[in-house]
Amino acid sequence: MNIETYYRIFRYISTSVHSSTDVNEVLGLAVKSVTEAVHAKGALLRILNLGTHQLELNAAYGLNECYLSKGHVSSQEVIAELCKQNKVVVIEDVLASSRVQYPQAAREQGIKMMMDVPLFLGDHVVGIVRIFFSEQRKFSEEEINFLVSISEQCAIAIEKTRLIEKHKSMYDHLALQTEKLSALGRMAAGIAHEINNPLGGILLYSSSLAKKVPPGGPLKEGLEIIIHEAMRCKNIIQDLLEFSREKEPEKTFANINQIIRKTLGMLENEFRLHHIKLETHLFEEMPNILVDVNQMQQVLVNLLLNAIEAVQDQGLVSIRSQIDPPQKNVKVEISDSGCGISPENIGKVFEPFFTTKSKGTGLGLAVTFRIVQNHKGNLHVFSRPGERTRFTIELPVA
Ligand SMILES: Nc1ncnc2c1ncn2[C@@H]1O[C@H](COP(=O)(O)OP(=O)(O)O)[C@@H](O)[C@H]1O
Ligand SMILES: [Mg+2]
Repeated sequence: MNIETYYRIFRYISTSVHSSTDVNEVLGLAVKSVTEAVHAKGALLRILNLGTHQLELNAAYGLNECYLSKGHVSSQEVIAELCKQNKVVVIEDVLASSRVQYPQAAREQGIKMMMDVPLFLGDHVVGIVRIFFSEQRKFSEEEINFLVSISEQCAIAIEKTRLIEKHKSMYDHLALQTEKLSALGRMAAGIAHEINNPLGGILLYSSSLAKKVPPGGPLKEGLEIIIHEAMRCKNIIQDLLEFSREKEPEKTFANINQIIRKTLGMLENEFRLHHIKLETHLFEEMPNILVDVNQMQQVLVNLLLNAIEAVQDQGLVSIRSQIDPPQKNVKVEISDSGCGISPENIGKVFEPFFTTKSKGTGLGLAVTFRIVQNHKGNLHVFSRPGERTRFTIELPVA
């Protein structure tokens, strides 16, 4: 076969890799084209399952069911060799090679020779294409190059599906999160209103009683505890109402660095009190963006207070602003050297009422998430126990 034919087939497959979203269709097409182009008996494509280390059958052409139903192939030996050689492996004698797991079955199918072509993604082998021949023969350099190029296209197709799946699951997660937040928000608003009135009554009566009882006695002490605890409830309710209020942001053009500086000024005392070192890295040529300044300040206060609470004394908190060139986003990153967040908690921190603190409300991050969302931005968290915790806010430049 001449080089033009190879090129035509290659073009055909690479076009389908880019246009098709069905990876199985593409891989099926690839094994068929390969078989026909090199006059083989058949070909199959196996993808490495990272969990089981088995090579799982994904596409096949020209081989009968009985041979294919032999099951998965353990990958160790097959892959290790391909990695070492970094190119195709020709199995001259099916009966004499340890790469062939079912030699007898292959011979019964009339297979005398095989060739393995690796599917590389970066420097990892993610699978193989195995081509079957009914007689022994030599391969030209063009043929080998052709097979390697087709395999590269297959690897790209596999990578593409993995990316699509990853994005889909990220999107599903976000959609679920958003729905959960708004349902809980509505419920929270209802409860907050219901509790606010009786709480007002409790505060009113306990305060007026406290004025009437003699000072220093047990009655006075008890009433003060009631007042103190009722005040605490009131603050939580206030947070809740804040959280559930579907307030549209009042946006003006503002400089995020200025908002950061102002917020840090407000929290200066907190940092000093806990002997926490603060590092700031503000990117100076920051474009103005459309934000609700008060809400953005609240976002920063919430994240910084969490950071302060996580490091306790003597730790390090750092805040960084930068511009993310590919997306044209303004990015603010707040990280701390604190306790970190365990893997089982990390998915819950944005949920309202999720807290691990005895005096926490679990609303700070829920409010923060809502505000960033109302600014069409993104909020992400990265953390592991014992490692730095990092929250990133991304806001679009209008
Ligand atoms: N910087 C951080 N380091 C470690 N854990 C954090 C950090 N920020 C938030 N968390 C975790 O997320 C939870 C929820 O935070 P938040 O919504 O602000 O509520 P609260 O601060 O009232 O607990 C916290 O209780 C804590 O477990
Ligand atoms: Mg908090």
